[in-house]
Amino acid sequence: MISTTQTSHLDPIGSFLAMEIFSRALELENLGRDIIHMEFGEPDFSAPPDAAEAVRKSMELNAAGYTHTQGIEELRNEIVNKYAQDYGVQILPEQVLVSNGSSILLYLSIQLLAPPGSEVILTDPSYACYENVIRAAGVKPVFIKLKHAEGFQLNVDELKKLLTSKTCAIVINSPMNPTGVVFSQEVMKALADLDIPVISDEIYADLNFEDSPCSFLSFSPKTVAINGFSKYYAMTGWRLGYMITPSVWMPAAARLHQNLMISATEFVQEAGVSVLQKSASYCESMKTEFNHRRQFVLKRLCELGMDPGYTPTGAFYVIYKYHDAEKSSFDLCLEVLEKTGVAIAPGRDFGLGAEGYVRFSYSNSLENIDRALIRLAESKLLAS
Ligand SMILES: Cc1ncc(COP(=O)(O)O)c(C=O)c1O
Repeated sequence: MISTTQTSHLDPIGSFLAMEIFSRALELENLGRDIIHMEFGEPDFSAPPDAAEAVRKSMELNAAGYTHTQGIEELRNEIVNKYAQDYGVQILPEQVLVSNGSSILLYLSIQLLAPPGSEVILTDPSYACYENVIRAAGVKPVFIKLKHAEGFQLNVDELKKLLTSKTCAIVINSPMNPTGVVFSQEVMKALADLDIPVISDEIYADLNFEDSPCSFLSFSPKTVAINGFSKYYAMTGWRLGYMITPSVWMPAAARLHQNLMISATEFVQEAGVSVLQKSASYCESMKTEFNHRRQFVLKRLCELGMDPGYTPTGAFYVIYKYHDAEKSSFDLCLEVLEKTGVAIAPGRDFGLGAEGYVRFSYSNSLENIDRALIRLAESKLLAS
């Protein structure tokens, strides 16, 4: 007999609820409903044209083979330049490992630093996949709550109380998904002083609207920094990400990567080189647009009586605490979708600490965002 008990060890690995909202939204769209999408963390812009041009050229040369497991030298050199120019951090090409997207590297970084049975600290709320990849690696997730009253900043004094002899790493993400909050310099310094390895998910580092972009590497070398092309470069489906580790940790990371992936797609790596060399102004204009939307969303939410009660200054998200504490965020998002045609993400996707919240992603036009917020306010499903 073939039964589900065979795969029951994976039962604790959750799915993304926002995907379920998206699937239902598509069904409604196919029935002719006007749906406004604000559920996904996916830029609504096209990838920089230089990316497609680079792929065309690469294909003419048939650049579609395996590469060095850490990625082609040219791309690693460009990443070294980016970290120096944009974040003021000096790294070496041998500290860089390129892969097909940053998600696999989040898993790889846990495996790299935390043996089965150990503990990794992560924030609650946080990006859905952290808890899942920690569990998948046989590691215990330990949650540090981010409090709304503290503007969702990380409280390092509270975090210290969670440290044990089994703590192997701390995962952070600043600017963060789902709150859009950027951790302060004081928080970063205090975190570095703990001298525990930090896995710093820097995928939104360039979408920091009120301060200069920064990497945790400028606070501590005991860092695995993870970054990629999905957000600031609007290249989600291209699947291109990278990690930066101290040199002494890279041989183990490279061995694991060789076994899991062999290497990232060659012509996509070529596209990455081209984008890093040529697309700065294209990407900056997308960032400027995201910032307009952020300011607009915050202003409009307040005008419509839905003040989020904190100020997100990065990424492209804002979370909002709704009034009906009895209702699960998933049920509420389904109801909102059915009644208003607005697709938003349930807070539960991001941990128990975000249950009671919904996440708006402002990766849609100003006009659509405005229409969505008006529909939400009129429905009174979120605010009383
Ligand atoms: C915080 C965070 N890290 C990583 C990812 C995944 O990035 P990638 O497309 O590089 O796998 C996402 C996607 O939403 C994210 O929000």
